[in-house]
Amino acid sequence: ESYDMGGHDTYMHKEIHEQVDAVDRVLRGRIDDRFSTVHLGGLNLDAREARGVRRVKILGCGSAYHTGLIGAQLIEELARIPADAEPASEFRYRNPVVDPDTLYLAVSQSGETYDTLAAVQELKRKGARVLGVVNVVGSAIARETDGGVYVHAGPEVCVVSTKCFTNTAVAFALLALHLGRIRDLSVADGKRIIAGLRKLPEQIAEVLRGEEEIKKLAAEYANAKSMMFVGRVRGYPVAREASLKLKEVSYVHAEAYPASELKHGPLALIEPEVPTVAVLPDDDLLEKNRATLEEIKARSGRILAVAHREQEKADHTIVVPRNEVELDPILMGIPLQLLAYHTALALGRDIDKPRNLAKSVTVE
Ligand code: AGP
Repeated sequence: ESYDMGGHDTYMHKEIHEQVDAVDRVLRGRIDDRFSTVHLGGLNLDAREARGVRRVKILGCGSAYHTGLIGAQLIEELARIPADAEPASEFRYRNPVVDPDTLYLAVSQSGETYDTLAAVQELKRKGARVLGVVNVVGSAIARETDGGVYVHAGPEVCVVSTKCFTNTAVAFALLALHLGRIRDLSVADGKRIIAGLRKLPEQIAEVLRGEEEIKKLAAEYANAKSMMFVGRVRGYPVAREASLKLKEVSYVHAEAYPASELKHGPLALIEPEVPTVAVLPDDDLLEKNRATLEEIKARSGRILAVAHREQEKADHTIVVPRNEVELDPILMGIPLQLLAYHTALALGRDIDKPRNLAKSVTVE
């Protein structure tokens, strides 16, 4: 991939479409079918050390933090290690307890974000083991960490992150699978996840083929006063990221909430001018999510669902292909990148250089 626009009008559009190849690249050469695991050359964490990890803490900012939320869920699900994510910008200022049995992961596209770098430096000063999940090879965070996983998304020019977000989520799936197979993830589950990962590039291409439909939906929702994004567990980080994407590139105000939290306050905002984007994977929480759609409908809210099948309570559904449930957040975010893009286009925004933002925030 190059800096050439390759026939696209914006880098954002180009980078959304590059995801098919980018995901193929992050997988390439890493899958080991013989042992149903993956090899991560630069990780620098041997099997004994990996078995000694009692907790995982993921640190990053903005979209990188959101991929950390996905990563923490994958690590808990596949490796059964307690894991959570926190904005690096908060972590570094709150004098955190640094635990020798915790594996710290710093996530960054640029590898130069000052808050994330400062969190890494603080952790190292206190003797922690910090690995990187980074896109730019040889960047400051890549150099400061003890090892890690490169994301191989290729150069990302648009200020708004798309392909790097997706590739980082896939890199976390690889890391979770690797840690899981060293601990107690079965061969069968390892095989199942590997098969799911291999399906991703073609399934991303399938989602992208639905772009015209998403463009029409964007035109329909572009004049919203505000947009609400909701999801439960695996759907929640997708909702967070989609809300950030829309804000950054279209300047439409958006909020993201766990669907379960709506009734604790934000439901008061629901009205026809405040539509909801609901992320509803076909997992064990589908019925709960459908009940949330009913609550929104009862308040005259419009609903755009992202789901694995048509949702009758929703005004519109974007149907995405099914994969393994653990990998749902990876695919479900992609149509919402297109929704943000086409909303911004409909509103005439400067897509590659949104106001007030820089590609990497290298100052405090
Ligand atoms: C993403 O669309 C953003 N522009 C922003 O949130 C970004 O993810 C954040 O600043 C972190 O950047 P990094 O990944 O380069 O560290």
